[in-house]
Amino acid sequence: MHKSIIALGVESSCDETSIGIIKSAFKDDVLITEKLGLVTDTQEKLHKDFGGVVPEIAARAHSEKIDTCFYRVLKESGIKIDDIDIICVTNGPGLIGGLISGINFAKGLAFTTGKPIVGVNHLIGHALTPHMTDDLRYPYLLLLASGGHCQYLAVLKANKIKRLGTTIDDAPGEVFDKVAKMLNLPTFSGSEVEKYAKKGNENRFSFPLPLINTNDCDLSFSGLKSSVRRQVDTLIEKQSGLYESDQMDVCASFQKSMRIIFEKKTKKAVDLFSKLSSGEKISFSLAGGVAANKNIRNSLKSLCNDLDIIFSAPPLELCTDNGLMIAYAGTQIYLSGRQDDMGLSPKPRWPIDLDNQNPLGFGKRGRKV
Ligand code: KG4
Ligand code: ZN
Repeated sequence: MHKSIIALGVESSCDETSIGIIKSAFKDDVLITEKLGLVTDTQEKLHKDFGGVVPEIAARAHSEKIDTCFYRVLKESGIKIDDIDIICVTNGPGLIGGLISGINFAKGLAFTTGKPIVGVNHLIGHALTPHMTDDLRYPYLLLLASGGHCQYLAVLKANKIKRLGTTIDDAPGEVFDKVAKMLNLPTFSGSEVEKYAKKGNENRFSFPLPLINTNDCDLSFSGLKSSVRRQVDTLIEKQSGLYESDQMDVCASFQKSMRIIFEKKTKKAVDLFSKLSSGEKISFSLAGGVAANKNIRNSLKSLCNDLDIIFSAPPLELCTDNGLMIAYAGTQIYLSGRQDDMGLSPKPRWPIDLDNQNPLGFGKRGRKV
């Protein structure tokens, strides 16, 4: 049995270069984890003018920033390279250039220090975050909603995760970003939409709620995105431009639709999850960047309250992509007896639940979300 493990986690699958260090130790057979340091360098400004993440720019920025993130996190945590026991790195799913930057960095470090390397599925990193931050007991139901993914997951154990539902088209974070771009907000991000929505009238426009009446917890966002686009075009045509009040009202009305979709689909997911759990009180948690949205977060919290479900949500900095979640998931994998070697390779598409068939509407190669 290991006394304690210090794990380094490297995340570079999208547009955050992030390295975290945690220390985990067993106390009475329970693994207690402590955060030692986290440095995240976001590329938001680099991609701003393009309305989405440009893979080539992202890959170059990861390669340029990863060393400085590493030295900064060592300094912040007061840890020396020799103190690190395992090197964990996201090896999928995600943008291939970013994954290669992270994997090459981790391999170089593992090779020169002789420490074990552990490849981690990014989605498992998100899925286990509430277990690390809120000590949520298995099994729990998780909504992972980010810029690249949207899934309801039954987290039965660290290494047993079942997908209950998924988006059949866009990811919600991606749609938040697109709406920010359509409205030409100061930054093309979901957090900017949330800021504008706060001052807007959410009942001025009525946007669609795709798939909410189906008897499953699959989701769809592309119809909502197109409807916002049409509304914005109509306003521009009528007024030769947009007023700030229009931007605020569109944001608020769009966010309201997102909120209702998540409320309805979470109810369905709870029904499905209750069939898998054996009568104990259900726990629900959130992960992914969209979980940082307070309007959606609060509505799901009060839904859980009404349904008598335990609600937990990780701190905002751990909802978005970060190296700590990779270090934590990597520690669990390592403790289960698995590690990788210098043959570790990127897996841009890597579903979390390989037993689960893709819903209708997926392309040949499967969806990334
Ligand atoms: O989990 P994440 O950091 O990266 C992945 O996509 O895996 O999520 C980033 C996404 C972006 O699309 C961003 O716009 C969205 O999360 N996001 C938000 C908010 N903060 C971040 N969406 C809505 N409201 C927010 N406050
Ligand atoms: Zn993510």
